Amino acid sequence: MLDRKDKDWWKRAVIYQIYPKSFQDSNGDGVGDLPGIISRLDYLQALGVDALWLCPVFASPQADNGYDISDYRAIDPMFGTMEDMRALIREADARGIGILLDLVLNHTSDRHRWFREALKGRDNPFHDYYIWRDGRPDMPPNGMKATFGGPAWTWVPELGQYYFHQFAPQQPDLNWENPAVRQELYAMIRAWMAEGVAGFRLDVIDQIGKDPDLQVTANGPRLMEFLRELNRETFGGANLVTVGEAWGADVARARRYSAPDGSIFSMVFQFEQMLLDQGDSKWEAKPMPLPVLKKSIARWQQGLHGCGWNSLFWNNHDLPRIVSRWGDDGEYRVQSAKALAVALHGLQGTPYIYQGEELGMTNAPYPAEDLRDIESRNAYRDLRAAGRTDAEAMAAIHRMGRDNARTPMQWSAGANAGFTAGTPWMRVNPNHVEINAEAALADLDSVFYTYRDLIALRKRYPVFVQGDFTLLCPDDGQVFAYVRRGAGQSLLAVANLSGRPAAFALPDEFAASRVLLATQGPPAGGLLRPWEAALYLTEQ
Ligand code: GLC
Repeated sequence: MLDRKDKDWWKRAVIYQIYPKSFQDSNGDGVGDLPGIISRLDYLQALGVDALWLCPVFASPQADNGYDISDYRAIDPMFGTMEDMRALIREADARGIGILLDLVLNHTSDRHRWFREALKGRDNPFHDYYIWRDGRPDMPPNGMKATFGGPAWTWVPELGQYYFHQFAPQQPDLNWENPAVRQELYAMIRAWMAEGVAGFRLDVIDQIGKDPDLQVTANGPRLMEFLRELNRETFGGANLVTVGEAWGADVARARRYSAPDGSIFSMVFQFEQMLLDQGDSKWEAKPMPLPVLKKSIARWQQGLHGCGWNSLFWNNHDLPRIVSRWGDDGEYRVQSAKALAVALHGLQGTPYIYQGEELGMTNAPYPAEDLRDIESRNAYRDLRAAGRTDAEAMAAIHRMGRDNARTPMQWSAGANAGFTAGTPWMRVNPNHVEINAEAALADLDSVFYTYRDLIALRKRYPVFVQGDFTLLCPDDGQVFAYVRRGAGQSLLAVANLSGRPAAFALPDEFAASRVLLATQGPPAGGLLRPWEAALYLTEQ
């Protein structure tokens, strides 16, 4: 068990991400909730994770599944009560697990009290909490586009003004230039700290310094100043784990965000690897040769070693399932899920596991009427308007849509996968009869136990946390292999990320090594089986 009082405890931690709406329903309303999470803490403890990041559970009209918050200080009744949250923090803590909340500080819901007040008139004190520009109904201030489609400006006839929203019109951006806004947010964060949370994930945080007139959203002129102030006024020095979502981060920026002096965050989520297989938009597929992915990972590993900290993830609630994306969700589902797990968990950084990843859960190619995500629904409309056929639009959504990750957690082969006794808010993937936690726990050869073992190894061997990074065979199109050296140990991770046998010669340094983990029985030597992976250790 990690002691969260230890400095930099989060460098040794593995964090599990929960999408509360789809994790476990306890009251039969078809929506996951906090008591449901509490009922699954033993499962999470058995896996061995140290902290849970909960996607937003605050009061919200759910236009963007909770990323549109109408009251930061209240739990949405759909998820439970403040007492349930306190019970979760307490029960998790009793199992050595901390709770991370998801802070959406870039925007609120249009039903937040601040925005409703803001709409009442230009003189209302809350008007300046948001970003307004004068104009005419047919002439937005500029051509900025919203992430979920359509313009980023919405006209309010009563005020004769536009407001800015980087996401949906139901998610007006807060005006961080206004010191009162910043102080309100800091006070709210301090209130959650007083409840005993272990940390925060900060949604699209690199957008808060935006300058809409310059058409700049990420990495705006005042971003670093705001981030330093946020840190100082809230979690700075509190030994919490903080992870900022930063789509606009390159290695140099990530180094500043995660500097060892703790002046900003513990680490950021960067998306360089996650963007490698897409063209101009996420709906355009682009081939991604393995060497391109490996070299990108290597650049981040080396670029942050000793002067920053990586977050490690293949999945989250915005991304398709990794076995379907870069593995094989057919014949080699189990083997590819394990190989991808080994490839990631041998790296330096804090690993994140997204609910169901430890079961090898797959994408869910639902028909249009079963899509729930605002982004996918709008994308369908926009792709059709741009001349794509129904089949083309649906293929793009099935490949990259966010609903793939948001289907209910598959607990059992029973009705609704054991997720709810009612009607699930989103269809359960029919493959739950085969892929589910109950079956995984009963099978010592399941993906679950590979994840459990990887988590335990990270705790046991300091090289996982401290070691540097050397990429082997960079141009090999099938094998991802690297060596980590540090703390008197050398770790070799090898993964055949293809469905064909692959040649791999064990480096001399590992001739007398110990196999720490092997996904398909003892490695044969010289030749890797399809999707085979292993970890080797030598100690000086
Ligand atoms: C982040 C979240 C995503 C959300 C968006 C707007 O990217 O991860 O789910 O839709 O921010 O808040």
